[in-house]
Amino acid sequence: MSDLNVHTLTDAVIARMTDKVEPRTRQLMSALIRHLHAFATEVSLTEAEWFAAIDFLTRTGKNCTDTRQEFILLSDVLGLSSLVIATNHPVAAGSLESSVLGPFYLPEMPELPLGSDLAVGVAGTPTLYQGLVTDTDGTPLAGATLDIWSSDGEGWYDVQKPGPLKPAARGRIRTGADGRYAFWSIKPADYPVPTDGPVGELLRAMDRDSMRPGHLHFIASAPGCETVTTQIFASDSPELRRDAVFGVSDGLIAPFVSHAAGTAPDGRVLSTPFCTVDYAIRLRRA
Ligand SMILES: [Fe+2]
Repeated sequence: MSDLNVHTLTDAVIARMTDKVEPRTRQLMSALIRHLHAFATEVSLTEAEWFAAIDFLTRTGKNCTDTRQEFILLSDVLGLSSLVIATNHPVAAGSLESSVLGPFYLPEMPELPLGSDLAVGVAGTPTLYQGLVTDTDGTPLAGATLDIWSSDGEGWYDVQKPGPLKPAARGRIRTGADGRYAFWSIKPADYPVPTDGPVGELLRAMDRDSMRPGHLHFIASAPGCETVTTQIFASDSPELRRDAVFGVSDGLIAPFVSHAAGTAPDGRVLSTPFCTVDYAIRLRRA
């Protein structure tokens, strides 16, 4: 072909797919090629910049291990993760909003009795989380499950600590017959996403902050309802409006009410200050 040029190349690449290509693959690849070419054309991408991008992606891959996923982090800081979540989980009728899963979820954590302390011996301010789980009509959901995990009060997850894994600030809680949940954990601290790899370089190049506001992750599920992966954020975090991974939405911000040492609403007696969080969870019927 002698007629390939900046005006004909995009269509020529897309046309190289045969009739055997599955329709969704054709749609995805056609759009990807069109947008990639349009990007390169729009910015007049230089060869040095093109090679720098190849080198960046290569190093991003080489930074992935069993316990670190630099590509997910890249997706997160570019806002792609939140965009995909928002596209696939539109909020309706005040239902619980989704947020990013993050890299620190561990499946199959044990189910603990209602009111349990998930963070025995974990650094941080003890915090009682409680509330009602309902459907969007307000009907309480008995037997709904919250699969919970968070950092400690210094911003570190158990999986980030050296040595054999000791699960901490994790566990599953099931609502009672009245649809209410309650458990103790700690108040999670603000923490930075890892910045010692290629994504850190990118954040610095864009003069971007690396901090995330303190948050408690959970996956809420109930029979007959849509499962929601999300986080709730402490309303007093100074990082709320500049979350490095764009995971915060207003409906996921909750006040952490501080209390002096004494008797908590569930009757537990604490010798140190503690917090309480009341957060209602509304799940959409599947
Ligand atoms: Fe997190």
